[in-house]
Amino acid sequence: TTVDLVVDDYELGGSADFMSKEIHEQPTALSRALSGRLNERFATAHLGGINMDPRELRAIRRVKFLGCGSSYYAGQMGAQLVEELARIPADAEPASEFRYRNPVVEADTLYVALSQSGETLDTLAAAQELKRKGGQLLGVVNVVGSAIARECGSGIFLHAGPEVSVASTKALTNTATSLAMLALLLGRVRDLSTADGKRIVAGLRRLPDQVAEILAQEQAVAEVAARFADTRSMFFVGRVRGWPVAREGAQKLKEISYVHAEAYQASELKHGPLALIDNTMPTVIIVPDDELLSKNIGTIEEIKARNGAVIAVTNAELPEGLADAELRVPRNETELDPILFTIPLQLFAYHLAAKLGRDIDRPRNLAKSVTVE
Ligand code: G6P
Repeated sequence: TTVDLVVDDYELGGSADFMSKEIHEQPTALSRALSGRLNERFATAHLGGINMDPRELRAIRRVKFLGCGSSYYAGQMGAQLVEELARIPADAEPASEFRYRNPVVEADTLYVALSQSGETLDTLAAAQELKRKGGQLLGVVNVVGSAIARECGSGIFLHAGPEVSVASTKALTNTATSLAMLALLLGRVRDLSTADGKRIVAGLRRLPDQVAEILAQEQAVAEVAARFADTRSMFFVGRVRGWPVAREGAQKLKEISYVHAEAYQASELKHGPLALIDNTMPTVIIVPDDELLSKNIGTIEEIKARNGAVIAVTNAELPEGLADAELRVPRNETELDPILFTIPLQLFAYHLAAKLGRDIDRPRNLAKSVTVE
């Protein structure tokens, strides 16, 4: 163990732990994921590893993302992007659920296995089941040469660099960004206009600097997290694009701080969970400045009317004093919002867990990759 500690300290390069190190590596990790993959001239993405020609890409009638944990939530972000940019029906499902329910495998569906480690057993088994039934399969994987990468044979590598912390950060960001490029490519062989393609390409190029901008506000996020550190339970809510962001934010908080968090669609709050809101139950709400802004403001008002505290993650100008705290996010194209809105929630979970003195890189009961049943 002495040797391990020395190696750890060396690899940490001045960071307090791997989660913090990996959060701060995101601008460079993102730049690597984008490098050489954006094509300005045709306003599309170039993904050499997927080995599919335009005719094959156009024959896809449905896209299904499969993964576990944060990879599954990144898949949900990807499904939304594919529907928006390519107008192909898409969804995400936990790989373990998929493999155990005798799935209907369709010839014109593109199946995409998502895994940072490339070793998660449930995701590997889902990929094997798909291949056995003749499904078209891509892998979106970080670790080159891993079991899932080999099983899939083609796909997109994340280029996030080694991720050590159990709580995934840079791998999730690179997965969601890779899926945005896949959605762009699928859109541009169909009806996504050149103008819209250019808009997304330019938006993707802005991401690394904007992530750095969010990370520069770490101290402000830490102060908000400290204010809520003695809470027993929190809601995380969002609508449509904000929904997977809320799920990922709640997951991060649970994983590393052991504070109970429940993610909900903001629209469903009034159909049950609103009964739980009082002054002991704060809500984190995802509020992009998009077509659903007024709906989200309405949700905040409903929570405030029941004395619930509200932390808004937002790039909108909210009415003065509406939220009890704001975590600010820069503006980009609305389709890409989930990628940016996830970042402050990493910092929020991190600082709340740190305030509670948790072992951030090694949360209890969890493993970095689950390679057993
Ligand atoms: C474990 C980790 C999660 C991770 C999931 C999927 O449960 O605790 O943080 O998201 O596995 O891992 P993968 O390597 O397949 O992305």
